[in-house]
Amino acid sequence: MARQFSTVGVVGLGTMGAGIAEVFARTGLTVIAVDVDDEGLERGRGHLEHSTARAVERGKLDAAGKAELLGRISTGTSLGDLAGCDLVVEAVPERMDLKASVLAELDRICPPDTVFASNTSSLSITEIGVHTGRPGKVVGLHFFNPTQVLKLVEVIRSVVTEPDVVADVVALVERLGKTPVVIGDRAGFIANALLFGYLNHAVRMYESRYATREDLDAAMRYGCGYPMGPLALLDLIGLDTAYEILDTMYHQSRNRLHAPAPVLKQMITAGLLGRKSGRGFYTYDAPDSSTVV
Ligand code: 3HC
Repeated sequence: MARQFSTVGVVGLGTMGAGIAEVFARTGLTVIAVDVDDEGLERGRGHLEHSTARAVERGKLDAAGKAELLGRISTGTSLGDLAGCDLVVEAVPERMDLKASVLAELDRICPPDTVFASNTSSLSITEIGVHTGRPGKVVGLHFFNPTQVLKLVEVIRSVVTEPDVVADVVALVERLGKTPVVIGDRAGFIANALLFGYLNHAVRMYESRYATREDLDAAMRYGCGYPMGPLALLDLIGLDTAYEILDTMYHQSRNRLHAPAPVLKQMITAGLLGRKSGRGFYTYDAPDSSTVV
């Protein structure tokens, strides 16, 4: 019988984790969100407050709906709080050692049928899964930023993910009002594998002074109808995140398209991470959480 997910855990309340928690809660699921410390929880609650207030402003929610949505999300700092979840999504930073230790601990805490999902952008789901005693119940669940708005969710299956787990997770994504695509375990999956070659190419054009940042962005917005130009989008994604994604794909494919443009590393070293640090290719009024919505 198909699983009816009703209580979902989210580990890591950064931009993506908070967005994912909000999307689940908006659909009426009970969400238990965990971060490492009070500071992380505070930041996560800030993301949730900001985004739901914006949803009210944009007419997507009313004040009562906002209160109900937030009321479905409880927060804490212990993975032990997730013992009753039928699905746990991890959205911790993109480091295999971190993800592996979170999943190994969850494996001890949660019942054997709990499904584990990772929001990784480019790490191997197979490798994440083998750190648990249930690799057949581990999938990738890759949301796109801003999570509250963008409809795509990539569902990644490893060679051992059980077909009924994939089917149940796909049904859940549809329940969230999102569009699922199912893909095997390859760095970058579908969207990032296509998108980041293009973004990297734009950085190389900028780096070699082939075109100004404004002209590069204007060309893709007004010539191709993209909602944002590539350099503005990199600022939204975060240059550090973009670098990690490119580097992982490059190491896996050795395709020069994905060899990170050198200026990316220099900007990261100088602290220019994009919106989240207040400056990237462009300068922003104040460092924010990288959410534009
Ligand atoms: N909650 C719910 N809905 C919201 C919202 C919120 N907090 N804030 C805005 N919205 C809704 C608005 O009501 C509007 O809906 P409508 O179309 O029905 O009227 C829609 O979202 C767009 O909102 P805005 O009008 O305020 O914003 P823009 O039209 O300027 O769009 C944008 C902003 C959605 C960021 C758009 O520029 C965009 O799609 N940019 C591209 C982003 C992108 O490519 N992301 C992918 C990055 S790659 C990634 O994430 C992968 C990872 O691994 C790195």
